[in-house]
Amino acid sequence: MKTLRSLNGAGLTGTIRVPGDKSISHRAVMFGAIAHGRTVVDGFLPGEDCLSTIDCFRKLGVTINQEKEHVEVVGNGFEGLHEPEDILDVGNSGTTCRLLLGVLANTPFHSCVIGDDSIAKRPMSRVTNPLREMGTKIDGRNDGNYTPISIRGGNLKAINYVSPVGSAQVKSAVLLAGLQADGTTTLTEPHHSRDHTERMLRAFGCEVEVNDLTVSLKGKQPLVSTHIEVPGDISSAAFYLVAGAIVPNSEITIKNVGINPTRTGILDVLEKMGADITITNQNTQTSEPSADIQIKTSSLNGIEISGELIPRLIDEIPIIALAATQADSTTVIKDAAELKVKETNRIDTVVNELKKLGAQIEATDDGMIIHGKTELSGGTVDSHGDHRIGMMLAIASCIANGETVLENSGSVNVSYPSFFEQLEQLSQSTIKKS
Ligand code: S3P
Repeated sequence: MKTLRSLNGAGLTGTIRVPGDKSISHRAVMFGAIAHGRTVVDGFLPGEDCLSTIDCFRKLGVTINQEKEHVEVVGNGFEGLHEPEDILDVGNSGTTCRLLLGVLANTPFHSCVIGDDSIAKRPMSRVTNPLREMGTKIDGRNDGNYTPISIRGGNLKAINYVSPVGSAQVKSAVLLAGLQADGTTTLTEPHHSRDHTERMLRAFGCEVEVNDLTVSLKGKQPLVSTHIEVPGDISSAAFYLVAGAIVPNSEITIKNVGINPTRTGILDVLEKMGADITITNQNTQTSEPSADIQIKTSSLNGIEISGELIPRLIDEIPIIALAATQADSTTVIKDAAELKVKETNRIDTVVNELKKLGAQIEATDDGMIIHGKTELSGGTVDSHGDHRIGMMLAIASCIANGETVLENSGSVNVSYPSFFEQLEQLSQSTIKKS
């Protein structure tokens, strides 16, 4: 639990670096583990989710040394993985769970994969179905849809899979399995999902073909160890981008943020809402673009957010909803039913928790409608163990009148362990300035 106070009109100012990208950090460890040789990762996110990935691969026999943001992984190919003596616990991490199943799809031993109470409710058949089709023996509660999941790899055959969901986790799991099968595996998705796997597989020396919504790779290609530099996570930066826009008198610069176009929906939305954003120092780090982003307080207007934009900002919808409470008109978020199967049902948790602070917000079947502009008032709110809900509510407390009590505030450690320190730092620099 944390008690947070309104900034009472004082702004958030200063320059920060957000932690490394979560999606890229997971993949760097996993791909290093199945590559041949020593992979060095810098800028790794030492949050609970990525530590779960390290823990699972250590249990599979991979040597991994981690010192804060620096990680060294000694891989011996898929053949170097051994039957784990213990259950593989993915904690709260859906990415660890789904990608790990792809890695285990052809390993000639038994593994059992489990996670926390949130993971136990998240659908896994989107991954277990294609893996079964490829030949993996896999089972779990509800016919393989929920953890605990038991898996024994086997004689994989390449497939041509048309995925019913647009999901980078599904795409990555099928590609990781495809790497172990004879022949070419092809996956077509209904819309573009983040492409970190395709980019990083190439950095590890693999040939991956992409043709619009279809990605394919030949099996049995060896991965060659490499050096991965992880840019800052735009999904973490999003909290301070919105804070910079809605907290009066703010000016925040965030250094070295990943700006992969499959992830930058938050920038498009904030710009469309009228935010004052400047992007400088564009760069490339291990095939991922990055830049510094500056944002200043501005008045926002409501917009519609739907269609192709949704997968480019799906993890940012909680904080976008908060921004919308401060916009001059109504914001409608549609086509986002996937929110229901994230760490929490994020349509319900966003709507219920923001209502407690006085927001005028309603849930719909596939999103939400937010009426701005509303003055928020402090109250007792709960992250429900969902990191992104916790951080969104903490930013809300900066503009809510009085005091806000945030229950289960520790959930921020999943993706952003330094979140509260940086909030303090940005509010302190205002005090020093005035
Ligand atoms: C992720 C993909 C997205 C995203 C999640 C991380 C990844 O999920 O919401 O936080 O690293 O591949 P889906 O693949 O289910 O869309």
